[in-house]
Amino acid sequence: MRFFLDTADVSDIRWAAEAGLIDGVTTNPSLLSQVAGDLDPKDVLTEICSVVDGPVSAEVVAVDGEGMYEEGRALAKLADNIVVKVPMIEDGLAAVRRLAAEGIRVNVTLCFSSVQCLIAAKAGGAYVSPFLGRLDDVGHDAMDVLQEVRTIFDNYTYETEILAASLRHPRHVAEAALLGADVATMPTAVLKKLLLHPLTDRGLDKFLNDWSKLVARTKVKT
Ligand code: E4P
Repeated sequence: MRFFLDTADVSDIRWAAEAGLIDGVTTNPSLLSQVAGDLDPKDVLTEICSVVDGPVSAEVVAVDGEGMYEEGRALAKLADNIVVKVPMIEDGLAAVRRLAAEGIRVNVTLCFSSVQCLIAAKAGGAYVSPFLGRLDDVGHDAMDVLQEVRTIFDNYTYETEILAASLRHPRHVAEAALLGADVATMPTAVLKKLLLHPLTDRGLDKFLNDWSKLVARTKVKT
């Protein structure tokens, strides 16, 4: 399973990339708005693309077919590793088809049902992003949706990758992995939590404590 960082914060992305923890990045207009200040968001995206050796999703903000297509083409020119993010709306699907026909990879975003993901795959999306956390937020069982998408894509051997998005905690990541999502995108806080377990810290403390007793007793050199 590949991990993407769901942020536009360049310092977080630099940390995760240098630690070898991520294979790509997803951004969206809200995430860019949080970090860009008075910078041009295109400059932020270009910098992110230079830091990450992997796909970087950049979302269009037009909502008409022609606008999404033109914006997608412009975003794709920012860097070779840009993946254009297009919302799962009717006009978006035409834009996905046109962009995909030109070899531009598209991530179909804001998917909340398995049939939306199926339609996005049929349109030629390289990725579909079911927003699992937001589904759970409104009382659905997000993992049922993910399971359906996995089964449908396997039934018809779609190459479209399932990008489990809107993940809120490590259990979401584990469940998405168990169900065969190709990619999990998560905020920095969730990525950091994947590394942690209190028993690891407690176990290490005890090992080091016992070792220092041994050293004191035997004068073993460490
Ligand atoms: C995915 O590409 C989206 O940017 C993201 O996962 C949305 O997550 P949120 O529901 O935490 O905003």
